[in-house]
Amino acid sequence: VDDDDMQFIKMHEHVSDLFHHILMHTNEGSEALNYLLDRGFSSELLKKEKIGLAPKMSSFTKNAILEKGFTEEAAYSAGLLSRNETNFSYYDRFVNRIMIPIKNHQNYIVGFTARSLDGSEPKYLNTPETKVFQKRHLMFNLSDARKSIRNQDEIILMEGHLDVLKVKSLNIENIVGLMGTALSEENINLLNRLASNVTLMFDGDGAGQRATVDIGETLLKHGLNTFVIQLPGGMDPDEYIENSGEESFRYLVKNEKRHYIHFLAEKLLNESMHNDLAFSQNINTLTDLLTYVNDDAIRTRLIQHISERYGMDKSQIESKLPVRTSQKR
Ligand code: UTP
Ligand code: MN
Ligand code: MN
Ligand code: MN
Ligand code: MN
Repeated sequence: VDDDDMQFIKMHEHVSDLFHHILMHTNEGSEALNYLLDRGFSSELLKKEKIGLAPKMSSFTKNAILEKGFTEEAAYSAGLLSRNETNFSYYDRFVNRIMIPIKNHQNYIVGFTARSLDGSEPKYLNTPETKVFQKRHLMFNLSDARKSIRNQDEIILMEGHLDVLKVKSLNIENIVGLMGTALSEENINLLNRLASNVTLMFDGDGAGQRATVDIGETLLKHGLNTFVIQLPGGMDPDEYIENSGEESFRYLVKNEKRHYIHFLAEKLLNESMHNDLAFSQNINTLTDLLTYVNDDAIRTRLIQHISERYGMDKSQIESKLPVRTSQKR
């Protein structure tokens, strides 16, 4: 963290405080505050996470920054202001949005994800890439989750920032959020250093399921024990908690954690019900993935499961596995 970085961070800490004050203690914030409270985010949580509101003004942030003695240029580089490329004037990047601060791994606020309140697109506007906000290096909530991740040797990974915060308010701490839907090489290395087990709990909709298939494969192939919790009815974690309740959510986390290959086997079986070519290809996909399972007990259980569900002898599946030579475990 050099002087420039510190300046970017100070700007973010300052405007976060202002946004938070506006949300919690002003008339202008009351509609957004009620929206969040109605969605089941407690004022305690909003305070702890310093959630805020960027007001409906085009130079609120700009004025606050100037008043604090920073320059517009610096605030632009930090991603807080936008620039009109015709006359080079600066204006606020975040207007009329719920501001969710994003902290780096040292626990400093380095950016925002900002939810629109009036249905305007994009639904979430993020800080652009800056010197201190490089998405490939960041994971949402990691600085708070780190200790619990170490203790439990498990990371639960989610898509949505509000999902992470809602689950956090149930005192489940080992949760981190993706920055967008892509997982970078840096993210994977970081996850690998932090824990041996990763559980994916993405949205239950089509996009979430596709992300589960892709990211799960990547994590498994990078040596992580990868598990999946699937949410029913296309819900995301936040919606599930609001609809089915906290106890039901805890039950899922405790009891419905399938190995990635178990999850994939079920999905592929459904898709190849009337397609024998796909059936055969899917068996090959699954046996290929089985070579990445280092835990003997889990591999045995997966082979058992696939043989039952796909109507094949265990020996038929085992014969498709490459011979394991002094593999690391
Ligand atoms: P979702 O559309 O599922 O949003 O996008 P959400 O988190 O459930 O939000 P609510 O509940 O409607 O408020 C999942 C994640 O994808 C990213 C965000 O990280 C979001 O949390 N995303 C989505 C964006 O970055 N930009 C977008 O415009 C939409
Ligand atoms: Mn979604
Ligand atoms: Mn949601
Ligand atoms: Mn969602
Ligand atoms: Mn099953």
